[in-house]
Amino acid sequence: MASELTWLGHGSWSIASGGQQILLDPFLDDSPVAPVKADQVAADFILISHGHFDHVADAQKIALRTGATLVANFEICEWFTAKGVEKTHAMNIGGGHLFPFGRVKMTIAHHTSMLPDGANGGQPAGFLISLPEGNVYFACDTGLFYDMKLIGAAGIALASLPIGDNFTMGPDDALEAVKLLNPQRVVPVHCGTWPVIAQDPERWAQRVRAETSAEPVVLRPGEKIRL
Ligand code: NI
Ligand code: MN
Repeated sequence: MASELTWLGHGSWSIASGGQQILLDPFLDDSPVAPVKADQVAADFILISHGHFDHVADAQKIALRTGATLVANFEICEWFTAKGVEKTHAMNIGGGHLFPFGRVKMTIAHHTSMLPDGANGGQPAGFLISLPEGNVYFACDTGLFYDMKLIGAAGIALASLPIGDNFTMGPDDALEAVKLLNPQRVVPVHCGTWPVIAQDPERWAQRVRAETSAEPVVLRPGEKIRL
């Protein structure tokens, strides 16, 4: 069955691939836009990009309920281990590892990463995930960086890019990111959650269509995309 990716609003994704369920940055119970609650999602793996509350919020309770393996940088893995999460897999920028669903490479992100209690969350990251049908790049929270050109050289079937502005890239820089990455399809995320990151994703999609060869896909929280 084709890999299926469901946007859960904000920076949260649920990925079903090869019989495995992968959650990215689950922020559900306190998210004003999440279509599901933390006790409703399945997970074999939970990927965490950085330490901010809107990315780690529900990871502990989901990991404890499901027994999922939490994948993050070393500092974030240590923080969750101290909170009783039994299975973690620590990585760091530039490193990749083959998981049962595919290879995950941790990529750079220009952002910060302090954990909710003030603990050191290490360096923020993005993820390049190689699924059977193609590579999916989650930029996660970041500003624009020219090395996206290198990430794009892998060949990107689908990119998830923040367009919210204020905390991450805004629409203009995200458009530049599409040009550097040259993905087949691109989904705008990390917008619309709160007024400070309100954007018009449809308007952005029109610009992507006009100025790049990528196909923009605007999802509402809870909608899926198939690879
Ligand atoms: Ni953040
Ligand atoms: Mn964020």
